[in-house]
Amino acid sequence: MKSRWGIIFMLLGAVAGLVILGLAGIGAVSLLRRANVTAPQAAPRLGIVLPPGFAADVYAEPDGAELPSVVTFGPDGALYLLTVPGKIFRIEDKDSNQTGEAVTLLYDNADGTLVQAVGLAFYEDKIYISDSGRISTLEDSDGDGKLDKLTPIVEGLPSLQFPDHSNNGIVFGPDGKLYVGVGATSDHSPPKDPLEASVLRMNPDGSELEVFATGFRNPYDLAFSPDGALFTADNNPSEMDATMRYLPPEELIFVQQGKDYGFPRSYGNAVVDGSTPPITEFFASVGSSGVTYYASDAFPPEWRNGVYVAQWGTGANVALDRGLTNGQSVVFTPLERTEDGNYRGDWKPFVVFDTDEGLRPVDVTVGADGALYMLEFTFSTIYRVHYTGEVTGSTPTPVVQINTEPIPEFAQTVIDQGAALFQQGVEGAPPCMTCHLDGGRIGLGPTLAGLRDVATARIPGLSAVEYVRQSILNPNAYIVPGFNAGYMFQSYSQSLSAEQIDSLIAYILTLEAE
Ligand code: HEC
Repeated sequence: MKSRWGIIFMLLGAVAGLVILGLAGIGAVSLLRRANVTAPQAAPRLGIVLPPGFAADVYAEPDGAELPSVVTFGPDGALYLLTVPGKIFRIEDKDSNQTGEAVTLLYDNADGTLVQAVGLAFYEDKIYISDSGRISTLEDSDGDGKLDKLTPIVEGLPSLQFPDHSNNGIVFGPDGKLYVGVGATSDHSPPKDPLEASVLRMNPDGSELEVFATGFRNPYDLAFSPDGALFTADNNPSEMDATMRYLPPEELIFVQQGKDYGFPRSYGNAVVDGSTPPITEFFASVGSSGVTYYASDAFPPEWRNGVYVAQWGTGANVALDRGLTNGQSVVFTPLERTEDGNYRGDWKPFVVFDTDEGLRPVDVTVGADGALYMLEFTFSTIYRVHYTGEVTGSTPTPVVQINTEPIPEFAQTVIDQGAALFQQGVEGAPPCMTCHLDGGRIGLGPTLAGLRDVATARIPGLSAVEYVRQSILNPNAYIVPGFNAGYMFQSYSQSLSAEQIDSLIAYILTLEAE
């Protein structure tokens, strides 16, 4: 672990400012404080865990590609890599052995023209780059195989007024227009610039720039599905204060023209202002970064027709200090079209990266071969993940038994006692209703209505009754997705008698789903 942080430390030292690490409002100080300086070592070969039937290899580890931000395939079939300090590499698999052995540095940004370069896209054979406040084309004007002519098409976009929030990833739509996600100029204050906290759209020459959708905090990357639906993943605030008393979830969003996604008023599904909710909520502070839509049939059905999101990992002090270590994985949300034209889907982990090695995925893209290419930030490694169907490995997956014990019948007097306790609490402990609203509705805590239907699936082996008991006695043993560890009152075990807890369990397990 130590050596890996050593490398991060050196990389950070090499770059002024803390660039991309601010995905979730990460403070430089926090990372450096945790950094442990020792001699760098070679990158760990893989350091990832995949679902059964999948295999991965290192596709490329280009030298000099520190702080990588984007990987995407060009119209020539080669893979292009952009780094935050503005280098562009072209990576080609000349001998078709699924390894990108031919690496060319196309642009070295030696004069520092590009600053905080986090977006790269192709349109009609031209490379487009999104760097601080600007989107430009980059061309090879003298035919020497290097890019040398930068032509800005739009400048003055709100950038770096809040650490690491800028105009981010770019993508071209089926309408031939360029789309860009733009971060907010604050952690969670009302916008002051009409172009911030938005997805913008423009012609390939920068003309007709318009706000396509609003109410994002830091939409870091954008991806279209083959049928023209646009998706992004949004990061959550991390500066807790009087208006932000808890860490809201990150979000996967179906971006539609003219819609407002609620920042800085509503987060996740807790919509208080009529804004548009996300498709699904991710854990808080996972650092959602690169996104891509997977439509190939090379992966089995449960892993296609949805969005892959690279989650860089928690880095905000507010999360680290509470022991939240979410992210550092690539997650997948299978998508289903609903009758009203929206999308439905719930995320699941796809690739989990080794946290001790400090591995952090930053971008994902799909190759013509149907493999998923993942860009790892700490060691600038590109992994190629493909489906083999072979289940290998000597450690069989442990079989976890779901406890099927039915929920018992509770006496009405016991349920009533539980309901009263839920509302009134006891001496020295807050009522449950402070956070789980009347009838167990969602508030600062999750809804408890319908928990009876999912309680046994929460922790394999625990019955519904045992699970709810554990949730009261030891709230952090399982964290409900989208809610914060450590937020529920932690000391009910000292204030409630066994009988009182039994009555609360009875009450909660009679609450039907709304
Ligand atoms: C200060 C706010 C707060 C109070 C008070 C509180 N909770 Fe919670 N509760 C939460 C939060 C936040 C979560 C989700 C995070 C987690 O899983 O720990 C949660 C989770 C739960 C869960 C797990 C739900 C699930 O979907 O798995 C149960 C059960 C629960 N609380 C019961 C209670 C009961 C019973 C009381 C009163 C004795 C209570 N809570 C009081 C905030 C609170």
